[in-house]
Amino acid sequence: MGDAQRYTRVARALHWLIALLVIANIAGGIVIANVENQNTLYDLHRSTGFVILCLAVLRLAWRATHRPPPLPDHMPSLQKFAAEAVHWALYGFMFATPLAGWAAANAFGATVSVYWLFNLPAIAPKDEGLFKILIGAHQVLAIAFTAAVLVHFAGAMFHTIVQRDGLMRRMWPV
Ligand code: HEM
Repeated sequence: MGDAQRYTRVARALHWLIALLVIANIAGGIVIANVENQNTLYDLHRSTGFVILCLAVLRLAWRATHRPPPLPDHMPSLQKFAAEAVHWALYGFMFATPLAGWAAANAFGATVSVYWLFNLPAIAPKDEGLFKILIGAHQVLAIAFTAAVLVHFAGAMFHTIVQRDGLMRRMWPV
């Protein structure tokens, strides 16, 4: 497969780095939601969410300046549309989920510390009612994000195992 049919090295690196952090943060979020008094895990979860947000900004900027390779011709247009819709949903979740979490922490009255190195400014006032709305939004977004990742993963596996069309090569890290 020629380079023209592959994502750039930077796009691939960002894809897999963000994928790893998102999966780790989903796992961490599930633990937080089910176990009490996980202060260290809260800090790690919030810090990683902020890193995902920053990397998502970089990734979108890179994408805007480096066109991704067109989807293969053999894909029916409905399948192309579905793949792209899921990709854009994933981009949306990469921004909306950490932002809702950050605002929820502030509405609760907490400051987000990034790996205990520095604190982020508050983007929402301390307010119990607002906290309930924002934490609810964060949870709904996280569930929808997880569902989109699963659909995306299933699509990638469909191409790899059923269609065997080498699509995975386009995003393979090396
Ligand atoms: C879990 C294993 C994953 C696999 C096997 C996988 C695989 C892939 C592949 C093969 C592509 C390229 C599709 C194409 O050729 O057009 C792709 C694109 C993409 N993936 Fe993943 N992915 C995974 C996880 C994730 C996660 C967790 C996210 C969310 C953060 C994500 C977000 C994206 C996005 C947004 C694109 C579109 C890139 C663009 O065109 O700008 N992926 N993925």
